[in-house]
Parts: sequence; C-alpha cells; structure tokens
Amino acid sequence: MLARETLKDTAIDGRFVPKGTKVMLAIYPSHRMEPWWRDPDTFDPERFSPERAEDRSHKYAWAPFGGNVHKCIGMHFGSMEVKAILHQLLLRYRWTVPAGYEPVIDFGTGPFPGNGLPIDLQPL
Ligand code: HEM
Repeated sequence: MLARETLKDTAIDGRFVPKGTKVMLAIYPSHRMEPWWRDPDTFDPERFSPERAEDRSHKYAWAPFGGNVHKCIGMHFGSMEVKAILHQLLLRYRWTVPAGYEPVIDFGTGPFPGNGLPIDLQPL
C-alpha cells in the first residue's frame, strides 16, 4: 500500500474526494489492472520492452517502490541486491519444485508464497 493525503478537493474515477482525505493505493491489484497491463498474471517480461513499456503508461503504473516525491530511496540498491543474490543462486544450484506445484500468494508487508515455497536446491 502507498499512503497519501489529498492536498485539495479532487475526483478519483468519478468519485468526489475532499481535501485532507487519507488515501491508500493498493499496488498489487493496480499492477493487475487492464488495459494498463495486458494479461497481467502471465509471465511476460516483454511487457517492459521499449516497444510496449506497459510500466511507463503512467508514473504510478509500475510502483513496487512507490512513486513521485516519496519513491523508495533504496530502489536501485534493492533491485541490484535481488539480482546479485538470485544470480549466485541460479549459478550454484539446480532448482526444482514438487510435480504439479502451484504457487499460492499470501500477503504480509508484501506478497509472499503462502504455502511454504517448497523449492529444493541441489548444489551443482
Ligand atoms: C526490494 C526492496 C524494497 C522495496 C520493495 C521497497 C519498497 C518501498 C515502498 C513501496 C515505499 C513507499 C513509497 C511511496 O510511498 O511512494 C518505500 C519507501 C521507502 N524506502 Fe523502500 N523498498 C525497498 C528497499 C529499501 C532499501 C534497501 C532502503 C534503504 C536503503 C529503503 C528505504 C526507503 C525509505 C527511506 C522510504 C521512504 C521514502 C519517503 O517517504 O520519502 N527501501 N520503499
């Protein structure tokens, strides 16, 4: 969730929202809204390609790190850290999940696997 407060009277999706209203933007569902995201639950990295750039249709379209003046100051560090760790894990282990495994998403401070994520890592 991103927390905001309206600075003046406004309208969101046709609904009047007075000045001083606390507003929460839910990132997970907004990242799954068509037409901004085509077929949003399909793994499709090409949606981020320069030709499609679905993440750039609006400054809050892609907002896992928030947006505008309160955008996360750790965005570049956090992104680099995740890639560096995953890179090493992919180089060093063979990854498997049980046959027929279906990931289930649960929520805490962010989305996480709700059924324990039974990945077996075998050193290569
Ligand atoms: C993958 C890792 C991370 C994620 C997903 C994440 C996500 C977020 C989100 C969603 C916000 C709220 C932004 C908004 O309201 O628009 C935020 C704010 C913030 N994050 Fe992160 N963050 C991450 C890592 C980090 C790291 C590594 C640091 C520090 C080194 C950091 C420091 C901050 C700070 C200080 C704010 C408050 C910014 C402000 O209100 O002006 N975050 N982060």
